[in-house]
Amino acid sequence: MSDLELLKKEAALRAVALVENGQRVGLGTGSTAKYAIEELGRKLASGELSGVVGVSTSEASEALAREVGIPTEPLDPRPLDIAIDGADEIAPNLDLVKGLGGALVREKMTEVQAGRLIIIADHTKLVTRLGEKAPLPIEILPFGFLSTVERLREIVPGGRLRMNGAQNYVTDNGNYIFDAQLPAEIDPAALERQLKGTLGVVDTGLFLGMAERVFVAAPGGVQELV
Ligand code: 5RP
Repeated sequence: MSDLELLKKEAALRAVALVENGQRVGLGTGSTAKYAIEELGRKLASGELSGVVGVSTSEASEALAREVGIPTEPLDPRPLDIAIDGADEIAPNLDLVKGLGGALVREKMTEVQAGRLIIIADHTKLVTRLGEKAPLPIEILPFGFLSTVERLREIVPGGRLRMNGAQNYVTDNGNYIFDAQLPAEIDPAALERQLKGTLGVVDTGLFLGMAERVFVAAPGGVQELV
């Protein structure tokens, strides 16, 4: 395992240390969240934790949760105690871009119901403004998707439909993703309102005001941002 992977795992362990017996836990998606799911499974198997139930944010996380022995339930209206997930960009105020792994809609629906959202990531995800390094994933309906892309290009001129080889990339929800290049000067909350008001858009990877704290894996160790 590379040094960075070891640090990502350490960040995941710090997050899982916040989980208590009997809690309902949102299980994130991606290479960092994977370490958290594995650690949760290990703690349940060893008896360090009991009565924990997971709510998965993707088919991949659901499969991993089952593999490591975490009981899971589908999302329902009950609140979750905590959710642990990765991110693609983290702004100084802990606003996030998520969804490069394609799970943004299930992640947002799950994590908005969590009392605490704990983010785990490596230091390359820290940015001074959203859109600095990563595109903003926007999930769109397949029906009339080219019309939706036209409408989106009027709001965010740069960007492209995500592909999987020669085919459109398809999310767990059966939808497509438009990866938008954000201009330097954006008002994230206004942009979120505008994008979500666009016909054909399901949701965006902007997670604003949701993260409670972030464990950042850096060469000097894991840092906590609150
Ligand atoms: C998936 C996500 C992931 O949390 C995000 O892409 C970070 O993944 P990784 O930990 O592999 O860098 O939003 O939709």
